[in-house]
Amino acid sequence: MNGMHGRIATQDEARDRRQAPGLGDGEAGSTSGGHVIRQGEIDVSHKVILYLEDITVAFDGFKALNALTLSIDVGELRAIIGPNGAGKTTMMDVITGKTRPDSGRAFLGQTYDLTRMKEPEIARAGIGRKFQKPSVFEQASVLENLWLACAGDKGWLGALRQRLSPGQGERIEQALETVGLAGERDRIAGLLSHGQKQWLEIGMLLIQEPKLLLLDEPVAGLSDEETERTAELLKRLAGERSVVVVEHDMHFVDQLGCKVSVLHQGSVLAEGDLATVQNDPRVIEVYLGR
Ligand SMILES: Nc1ncnc2c1ncn2[C@@H]1O[C@H](COP(=O)(O)OP(=O)(O)OP(=O)(O)O)[C@@H](O)[C@H]1O
Ligand SMILES: [Mg+2]
Repeated sequence: MNGMHGRIATQDEARDRRQAPGLGDGEAGSTSGGHVIRQGEIDVSHKVILYLEDITVAFDGFKALNALTLSIDVGELRAIIGPNGAGKTTMMDVITGKTRPDSGRAFLGQTYDLTRMKEPEIARAGIGRKFQKPSVFEQASVLENLWLACAGDKGWLGALRQRLSPGQGERIEQALETVGLAGERDRIAGLLSHGQKQWLEIGMLLIQEPKLLLLDEPVAGLSDEETERTAELLKRLAGERSVVVVEHDMHFVDQLGCKVSVLHQGSVLAEGDLATVQNDPRVIEVYLGR
């Protein structure tokens, strides 16, 4: 499944492993810290799911990301805030392989070098991403959308041809329960509320069992009640997987009750709980100065 990891490591890959964050001398190779990593598995022996180091992305000389360093733990829920243009979406583009950084390193666990992988490879390795605009199939039912998510990149034709395995059927049921749409399974997705569409899309991501979920402004345009339910959902989703959520809605970020990273001009300006960063004079300056 993971082409680049399904064979014996080249010297380059072996070097990458040595350079992976937290790997001490003598820990390189097919074992890490003394335990064997199976093919396709993410090595999180250092409890870090995502590690970005010194990432720089320039568009015509303008640095959208400027030596960005950020680390997300296994099972962590993290909120990313920051003014418009701070580089939040660009960061997600780098993590998912949509944008190649000009410099810096990006690792999923200890061994997956994201800067060398293509978008589908990264998705298969365990990173799921939700864009701001829901992209569910409006004419299909909730269940059909989840069914389609099972087909992955095989598309509609693949979905039509496939027969669901018992495991997939179970994952669909679980996803329906988790996102609170079990009662809407036969509803046409186009008739769902904006919030329900967002939850359906999160459910579709869950089908692929990602280890890291990236959500870009998931509560924009949602009602207060839907926003609250989304916060509850994300809190439940963390733990079993890591969740990184970009949001401008501070009330929502407060409800998440997690560590917050403030991005500004392409790097992390402050980190900590929401109250702490909101009282940081540098953060106040950045928000007031706009
Ligand atoms: N493909 C691109 N070409 C040129 N400039 C870009 C490109 N993508 C992003 N930028 C610029 O990089 C900067 C960071 O953009 P980005 O979308 O990452 O910000 P953001 O923090 O997500 O902002 P917002 O909160 O408005 O969504 C902006 O100045 C943007 O104009
Ligand atoms: Mg953005």
